[in-house]
Amino acid sequence: MAATSDVEIDTDIDIAHRIGRAIESVIEGKSDVVRLTLTVLLAEGHLLIEDVPGVGKTMLAKALGRSIDCPVKRVQFTPDLLPSDITGVSAYNQLTREFEFKPGPVFANVVVGDEINRASPKTQSALLECMEERQVTVDGVTYELAPPFMVIATQNPIEMEGTYPLPEAQRDRFTAKIAMGYPAPAAEMEMLDIHGASQPLEKLQPVATTAEVMGLIRAVRAVYVSQPVKQYAVDLVTATRNSPDLRVGASPRATLHLVRGARAHAALSGRDYVIPDDLQDLAVPVLAHRLLPSVEAQGQRRRPEQVIADLVRHVPVPDAR
Ligand SMILES: Nc1ncnc2c1ncn2[C@@H]1O[C@H](COP(=O)(O)OP(=O)(O)OP(=O)(O)O)[C@@H](O)[C@H]1O
Ligand SMILES: [Mg+2]
Repeated sequence: MAATSDVEIDTDIDIAHRIGRAIESVIEGKSDVVRLTLTVLLAEGHLLIEDVPGVGKTMLAKALGRSIDCPVKRVQFTPDLLPSDITGVSAYNQLTREFEFKPGPVFANVVVGDEINRASPKTQSALLECMEERQVTVDGVTYELAPPFMVIATQNPIEMEGTYPLPEAQRDRFTAKIAMGYPAPAAEMEMLDIHGASQPLEKLQPVATTAEVMGLIRAVRAVYVSQPVKQYAVDLVTATRNSPDLRVGASPRATLHLVRGARAHAALSGRDYVIPDDLQDLAVPVLAHRLLPSVEAQGQRRRPEQVIADLVRHVPVPDAR
């Protein structure tokens, strides 16, 4: 039994595909990455993009922000950035003789946190707290962050930039982590043709309103997940906790993110119900960044991504949808 009709998701989801096409007019040959970005947006989550320099991380984040008609803020993380540079400050107004709150860049619908591993842990956690709470407290006063609220953080791999790697507890707050990867040679040729003459990002116009995105998010919340499929999500997460290859398994928050992501993934396929494939496709991007390999797995150079892929192959799949 489905909670909404196919027709509704079909029409609503067109908005997401429109956003996807807008992003892909800028980023060549990365449709899988773009799809995952949309999945996280619709799952009301936050995205961590980790990859080597120059592969379009910042560009992807900016392109998503530009394609929705909403306030977008970008924060370049640096070692001297303060928590208040993100959240905002109370400043004394000479005229009114009162303290006034000056909102920081986190008060936007899309917040791009560039090179998040270059700021101090204190500043990182200021952003990560907002991500979880969806509110900011300054001098005892709490300010709500308006939905949709999505943080896209970028960072270089830890091996490359040994500054302040995000601790696991903080990585857990990101719904998914993706790598951009190099474009295929043909896509790179296309990039040279298009980018040689102009900056396509400048030309990117918004293709959706925040109200449209919120309507879509509401439709995604109503995507149906059957008991056997929920059980399958729990089984996958439990398998990470029992795996000898992992030192720390996935949290219940991870389970929530996995199922929310699966709803969005189903909707993007035009379905109003989740099937096991939705969970399987998302298991690596949603779970791997939260896990630590055991000493043995590290010795064998097995990364959490590979461990999860193996678990997905072994955990029995329910046949009911
Ligand atoms: N797949 C792609 N399609 C189109 N352009 C691309 C692609 N990948 C990279 N580029 C181009 O490469 C340039 C660098 O990209 P960007 O600044 O987003 O990299 P980055 O991953 O954020 O790098 P850094 O880690 O140094 O911040 C962009 O101006 C963009 O034009
Ligand atoms: Mg960048």
